[in-house]
Amino acid sequence: MSTGSTDNASPIRLTVLISGSGSNLQALIDQCGQPALPDASIIRVISNRKDAFGLKRAETAHIPTAYHNLVKYKKQYPDTNVPPTFEMARSEYDKDLAAMVLADKPDIVVCAGWMHILMPTFLDPLSQAGVPVINLHPALPGRYNGAHAIERAYNDFTQGKTDHTGIMIHYVISEVDMGQPITTRRIDMKKDESLDQLEQRVHENEWELIVLGTKMAIDDLQAKRRSGGQP
Ligand code: GAR
Repeated sequence: MSTGSTDNASPIRLTVLISGSGSNLQALIDQCGQPALPDASIIRVISNRKDAFGLKRAETAHIPTAYHNLVKYKKQYPDTNVPPTFEMARSEYDKDLAAMVLADKPDIVVCAGWMHILMPTFLDPLSQAGVPVINLHPALPGRYNGAHAIERAYNDFTQGKTDHTGIMIHYVISEVDMGQPITTRRIDMKKDESLDQLEQRVHENEWELIVLGTKMAIDDLQAKRRSGGQP
């Protein structure tokens, strides 16, 4: 059963998860209530880093924020870098994250630069509540999963192994960056472009694609609700 809004008249409630600068969060903030995202409202921004600049962006936009701190969980499970205690700390952390997120009754969770892998202890309760989780990743499906995706694509380009990279918005499953794509954008590499320049170009495209992908996920959710199906 869905926990969020039940009809198309109520705005779709978005919870946004961030870890850093929050430039993609800013793109969502700027477009909520505008033609690109007319029926959406960000109800909370949650960060796993206390000093994430994205928290300031949210506060400036009068959006409630929360900081979910892994340190407490690492202390509970010493030797946290050694399996299986690492997984235990992360599992507990994600279980509490799910409770924190679901308490707000969101319709959709958007990972906008959230740099933790989401575990089943997060994803299962969200799925049971009918709340889709979507993610922005700076690579095309099946390419450069995980961290440093832009840099790895750039290195391949400099070695003549590829002539493009891309971006995707996808539904999140427990396999990292492997969920069903919602929308993708190819980005062709340019000769003589530096890594910094490529990163900037990727980010500028992300600011458009995260808005488009969120809109598509909203449309998908609303269509499923209209047909009486579960998300
Ligand atoms: C973005 O480039 C996003 O694609 C990336 O983190 C950055 C966040 O920037 N996410 C991932 O790599 C997820 N695997 P922001 O904090 O300025 O939005």
